[in-house]
Amino acid sequence: MEIREYRQTDEIGWVRCRVLAFLDTAYFDNVLQRKESYENPSIELVAVRDGQIIGLLDVEYEQVERSVCSRGEGLGGMIWHIAVHPDYRRQGIGEKLLQEAVNRAIPLGLNRFEAWTRDNPWVQKWYEKMDFETVESYYHLYFDGKEGEGIISTSVPKLNVVHSFAHYTGDNIDQFRGTNQRIHECVCFEKYFHA
Ligand SMILES: CC(C)(COP(=O)(O)OP(=O)(O)OC[C@H]1O[C@@H](n2cnc3c(N)ncnc32)[C@H](O)[C@@H]1OP(=O)(O)O)[C@@H](O)C(=O)NCCC(=O)NCCS
Repeated sequence: MEIREYRQTDEIGWVRCRVLAFLDTAYFDNVLQRKESYENPSIELVAVRDGQIIGLLDVEYEQVERSVCSRGEGLGGMIWHIAVHPDYRRQGIGEKLLQEAVNRAIPLGLNRFEAWTRDNPWVQKWYEKMDFETVESYYHLYFDGKEGEGIISTSVPKLNVVHSFAHYTGDNIDQFRGTNQRIHECVCFEKYFHA
């Protein structure tokens, strides 16, 4: 298994690995057909075995404070994508990708990584094992069909919202419980690099 920089020719393998890795997570329907590219510089790594992409990590990083990260002081990097193919999990591949990214981030003058993830306890356990700390959270809400009526409205005549996705940053999440909509807590993790 080799960890190396992402190349343009990796794109199909990258997309496939990400879809498979997300299938059993709260991001199962967050499917990309193309790899994301970034406005700011980035660290883009892949784990490759027998020519197959089995892991990936993308970090977009700051050259100006708070231009990418949502919080914190000093220059940081945002982990936009971290995924390991389900057949290769718990073999240290995620950790190796992260370590390589940290090794590259420190000489760039970065002091931390930020990452947002939903409420899969085993994924959060990985962040915690990698010395990330939980720093804040808010909610992602999906309203399906009639469930959103009276909550999600539009001012356009004859336009009826069927499905909707919303962010909730308040502290009364219980008002939305009891129906069938999907509710995810979206948690911010932060890892400061230690000298
Ligand atoms: C989270 C993820 C990147 C971890 O990569 P990995 O290579 O499997 O993890 P590592 O081998 O580096 O670390 C393993 C540790 O992570 C935690 N962990 C990972 N998967 C776990 C699981 N299914 N159950 C419990 N703990 C788990 C444990 O602490 C584990 O240590 P242990 O095996 O000694 O108990 C990978 O599982 C993944 O792709 N998850 C789905 C994609 C995703 O949700 N990405 C984040 C969205 S922002």
